Amino acid sequence: MTILVVATGNPGKLQEMQAYLADLNWELILKPEDLEIEETGSTFAENACLKASEVARMTGQWAIADDSGLEVDALDGAPGVFSARYGSTDSERIERLLNELGNELNRDAQFVCVIALARPNGAIALQAEGACPGRILHTPRGTGGFGYDPIFYVPEYSQTFAEMPAELKHAISHRGRAFQALLPQLKALTLDT
Ligand code: IMP
Repeated sequence: MTILVVATGNPGKLQEMQAYLADLNWELILKPEDLEIEETGSTFAENACLKASEVARMTGQWAIADDSGLEVDALDGAPGVFSARYGSTDSERIERLLNELGNELNRDAQFVCVIALARPNGAIALQAEGACPGRILHTPRGTGGFGYDPIFYVPEYSQTFAEMPAELKHAISHRGRAFQALLPQLKALTLDT
């Protein structure tokens, strides 16, 4: 089995990626804890490529990274790549977003995720993007998920991400869709470096 280093310190993300990539012949492991990559890019793609590439070069193994966030139309795409840095806790981030949006009528938003896979020499081998459109509620609903899930409402299912069963969220979310786009490319990939 080829080792694939997941460029995250988050064991939850490792588990989620293991589930998406279960059918493939890769052994997924977490990146070394002391290997911190700063997200200096101005787009999700730049950050995903930066993380995958650096972790691959530093470990000499294949590496995979994702970068994701919430883009709100009436806020010109904010918080975007700053989604994680919009406040210090999930509730602070939600509160800030709701304050900035106020009573704005246009509440359209989308979650976006870009995944990048790098070869052991750091070259980017594959990239895939997924998006999930929805609307920002005025008040949080639901207790599942994480991050902005309680205020992200998906009209098609009449539920927020935080109200959905995890399997449904994983099937329709930006991350799920990015993995669905990545999978056929991964299966076709030649492993020579
Ligand atoms: P990163 O991709 O780990 O850098 O995370 C970006 C940030 O976007 C997270 O800290 C969350 O605030 C937000 N985010 C990304 N995906 C989701 C999601 O599925 N639900 C809720 N918030 C998310």
